[in-house]
Amino acid sequence: MKIAIIIGSIRQGRQSQKIAHYLQHKLAANGSTIDLIDLAETPLPMLEERVGKHPQLPAEVQDLSNRLHAADAIIMVTPEYHGSFSGVLKNALDYFYGEFSKKAIGIVTVSAGKFGGINAATQLQQVILSLGAFPLPSKLLVPEVYGAFNEAQELTNEFTSRSAQKFMDDFQWFASAIYEKKQQATLSV
Ligand SMILES: Cc1cc2nc3c(=O)[nH]c(=O)nc-3n(C[C@H](O)[C@H](O)[C@H](O)COP(=O)(O)O)c2cc1C
Repeated sequence: MKIAIIIGSIRQGRQSQKIAHYLQHKLAANGSTIDLIDLAETPLPMLEERVGKHPQLPAEVQDLSNRLHAADAIIMVTPEYHGSFSGVLKNALDYFYGEFSKKAIGIVTVSAGKFGGINAATQLQQVILSLGAFPLPSKLLVPEVYGAFNEAQELTNEFTSRSAQKFMDDFQWFASAIYEKKQQATLSV
């Protein structure tokens, strides 16, 4: 299965990429092919029109569209900013629809405080439904992110390690179920 992980933080001094890299390595070790989509490395212009309607679609948007189409399931990683998920992630999502629809989507939120970005996570679930996609019911919340990783970028917080393992187990179960159903449908055509 191909899994895209979107890093929805481009802030100077950002922290959210740490849990994205952690999941990337764990899921790859478990046999998945991972495409890490870092919106800091592949910035998108502010949306003027969406894919399929834009008269001159920016090349970087087309490239991201292709990468998302190639993914069987997607994980979105976002910080909580002012009670919601990041604007840079919302701008990226607004370009697309078919790239996400009928795919399993895992939500990972990050905060400096104790609540792990719960507001961002629940709001992102609603947006994912509007993309015609299937949000995983269990979310991975990463609280107190500044103390959760050591200088070698290793996850040292026990609670978050356990949460991350449960999230990955749930995500792989859910994403595989949808993936296998689609494979059956393809075979029966
Ligand atoms: C503009 C801004 C707004 C923030 N708003 C919240 C918030 O509403 N709730 C919260 O728990 N943390 C909030 N924080 C703290 C972030 O969760 C924390 O900085 C975290 O590291 C963000 O992820 P990042 O490092 O990838 O940007 C905010 C941070 C910024 C920069």
